[in-house]
Amino acid sequence: MTAIIIDGAAAAQALYAGLAARVQALKARGVTPGLATVLVGDDPASRVYVRNKVRACESLGMHSEHRALPATVTTAELLAEIAALNARADIHGMIVQLPLPPQVEPAALLQAIAPDKDVDGFHWRNLGALAAGTPQLLPCTPAGVMHLLDREGVAIEGQRAVVIGRSQQVGKPTALLLISRGATVTVCHSKTTDLAAITHEADILVAAAGRPRLVTAAMVKPGATVIDVGINRVDGKLVGDVDFASVREVAGRITPVPGGVGPMTVAMLIANTVTAAERHAGAAST
Ligand code: GUN
Repeated sequence: MTAIIIDGAAAAQALYAGLAARVQALKARGVTPGLATVLVGDDPASRVYVRNKVRACESLGMHSEHRALPATVTTAELLAEIAALNARADIHGMIVQLPLPPQVEPAALLQAIAPDKDVDGFHWRNLGALAAGTPQLLPCTPAGVMHLLDREGVAIEGQRAVVIGRSQQVGKPTALLLISRGATVTVCHSKTTDLAAITHEADILVAAAGRPRLVTAAMVKPGATVIDVGINRVDGKLVGDVDFASVREVAGRITPVPGGVGPMTVAMLIANTVTAAERHAGAAST
């Protein structure tokens, strides 16, 4: 079997069409959705990711504002920046691009972002709401994974799902979303023993471990849907957590890297920003 390749770029474009209409409707009411991006230091990959987010905003006619801060920035300086953005009525969403330099404590920053503007969905209030089954702003990559599964018509309820990776940003929230949709979910991580035996049970396999080509064909159940969240640079080339060349011969569906989950993360960030602006406009008009 050769897998159907899930086209994340096409899925993102389809989402943008709907988002463009929502942006226009907001603008007709005098509200231009605004996203602030904060980048610390000059990590080349982070710069590319932030640039993609800014471009997506601009292509929809949204307002974007970028803050580039030196790698030597202090937590206090970043907190002041966040406080200023929290106070702005024309900024509906903000993100602080991760990773941060070692002198900055990410939790302090992420908890300082007003939860209503936390379009990354990393604030404890948003993560807690998700865990409680009343999601507000969802983390973008997990939301993108679910969107791809739904767009492909992949059954979730009653299916076995395995998530590799237990990060707060991706692994845990993805597992929560799959549970909420009725999947039977196993979360694997670096301490898991006999990973292959577990992954081989998966109808839906989400790889978010940050380890290049960790998932090989022998670990995949024939016909499974394989979602690769990994973005690793190996010998100058981007590769996922899945060995695409071999796994595509076993899986039923598979996301490529690049062009799979990555574009969906950006699209979901824009969707969250539009949602935040709509809520703000709704609150303002009452
Ligand atoms: N670094 C890698 N992915 C992300 C993301 O989705 N949001 C932020 N803020 N930083 C990231």
